Amino acid sequence: MPEVENIAVIGAGLMGRGIAQVFACYGHPVWLVDTEEKILKLAKEQVEKNLKQMLQHGISFSDEIEEVLDRISTTTDMVRACEGCDFVVEAVYENLDLKQQVFADLDRFCPPEAILCSNTSVIAITEIAERASKRERILGTHWWNPPYLIPLVEVVRAEETTDRCIDATYDLLTRVGKHPVRIHKDVPGFVGNRLQHALWREAFAIIDEGICDPATVDEVVCSGFGLRLPILGPVENADMVGLDLTLSIHDYILKYLNANPTPSTTLRSRVEQKHLGFKTGKGFQEWSDAEVAASRERLTNYLMKVISQEKSRS
Ligand code: NAI
Repeated sequence: MPEVENIAVIGAGLMGRGIAQVFACYGHPVWLVDTEEKILKLAKEQVEKNLKQMLQHGISFSDEIEEVLDRISTTTDMVRACEGCDFVVEAVYENLDLKQQVFADLDRFCPPEAILCSNTSVIAITEIAERASKRERILGTHWWNPPYLIPLVEVVRAEETTDRCIDATYDLLTRVGKHPVRIHKDVPGFVGNRLQHALWREAFAIIDEGICDPATVDEVVCSGFGLRLPILGPVENADMVGLDLTLSIHDYILKYLNANPTPSTTLRSRVEQKHLGFKTGKGFQEWSDAEVAASRERLTNYLMKVISQEKSRS
């Protein structure tokens, strides 16, 4: 029987519905909350599709699909979802004011012992918690997309979060098959997005400066050092090549790397021209509908294969 029983997930978009799916797969009753019934209906349909796809790839879970789906109840009434809940994950739009309001409401509506988590990508949790009164039970759980496939969840301690809440969250996430890590300081971007966007800033700067074309940037990553990343992080890699060599490389190269506090000029101009990427058919590169579908399928198939191999090994 799960120790933390009742879950509520606020926001049934891309992340919220996938997070609800994870808890439901491990036997937890979940309230999934959004502002409109049609979003909630779509969310349940998407969860069903994900579960079927997982089974097709040999990723099993202990219950029938129907049983998992039955554990996810949907509502537009946050008060109802908060009643008797033990653990909440907020996954509404990435907007500070909205998140602050949601946490002020959660703080009023949830039982006093309930743990309240934000899935914000980059906003400091301490800021999100500002309008709540019981701030010691608020923390960050930063999941990665797709949340039912990517194991990592960054568990972020805000200024007032207690050990009890951090430990209980860590335990719960472990029990539902995730790979939680403890982040001790509540800094914008936490760890994963700081690393990711440092790489993206340099990638876009290389394009801005005409050093190579956008497709080549991705080839360099995917056919080069990216191949090592699933088993070798940058810190172990530095130890492997030797810190003396790493130091002399940094002594020479760091001054040439982009350290701009503002976004890339190409990025900004593409957005101004409404070239937003897959959703408009053009971003840094042009994308046909077939190419968009193929890219998404390639990623899902790859992740499913990796997870299915991991599961068969454990
Ligand atoms: P999304 O736009 O797909 O979904 C957000 C949902 O929140 C929408 O369905 C919206 O109707 C709902 N919502 C808005 N206000 C609400 C309210 N007051 N009460 C209930 N529901 C409300 O967004 P997505 O991508 O799922 O992101 C959610 C959060 O997760 C954001 O903070 C985002 O930065 C973060 N995140 C996103 C990742 C991604 O790859 N998309 C990865 C990791 C974190």
